[in-house]
Amino acid sequence: MPDTVTQAKWDKAAPTFDIMAAKGAEERWLPFKKKLFSNMDGKILFLALGTGLDIASFPAGKDITAIDISPRMLEVAAPRIEAYDGSIETKVMDVHEMDFDDDTFDQIFTSCTFCSVPNPVDGLKALKRVLKPDGEMFMFEHTGSSYYPFKLMMTLMTQISRRLGPDMNRTTVANVEAAGFRVTEVNNLFLDIVKTIRANK
Ligand SMILES: C[S@@+](CC[C@H](N)C(=O)[O-])C[C@H]1O[C@@H](n2cnc3c(N)ncnc32)[C@H](O)[C@@H]1O
Repeated sequence: MPDTVTQAKWDKAAPTFDIMAAKGAEERWLPFKKKLFSNMDGKILFLALGTGLDIASFPAGKDITAIDISPRMLEVAAPRIEAYDGSIETKVMDVHEMDFDDDTFDQIFTSCTFCSVPNPVDGLKALKRVLKPDGEMFMFEHTGSSYYPFKLMMTLMTQISRRLGPDMNRTTVANVEAAGFRVTEVNNLFLDIVKTIRANK
């Protein structure tokens, strides 16, 4: 059954998402995203393109299939997709219900998504299904912290943040492992909260 609740939440967020995402934060993380996305090669799935803010960090000339549950987010992304020096084909699709064949993609990239996907372990298992056996997943994510004051604060913040957008207290590295991936690298960029993750199928 389509997840109309999640879709409606992100459709509603779409018009103001770029303001909420904050230019300063985008600029701060740009070099790290560029480094992560510089690994793009082969048949690529980008999960949760959103309004396309990540496109500024994509290397030129790639052939990318990008999905998002929210058609409104993808509408806002349209000029950025148009301006990309390469190919981005978009599909409105829930990660839990992707209609791609098993073992379709060489690589999967995603950014700030598993703070938002309703059932993260199921979503990650679905990604594993469409990744080729020797494929690799690359993630830029913010998660909860294991340090007590932050852990508590982020759990409290999530009570409000999840009504409008993401959760602040996800355990994404553990979720990636629980989905059956082998985590090969975790690179903490701010405390243990903002990080890049690499994982093999
Ligand atoms: C915090 S935004 C990040 C967007 C973009 N990657 C960025 O960093 O600017 C989370 C995105 O995940 C998408 N999303 C949430 N749940 C999803 C799902 N089940 N399947 C696909 N996309 C989903 C939302 O529509 C939204 O665009």
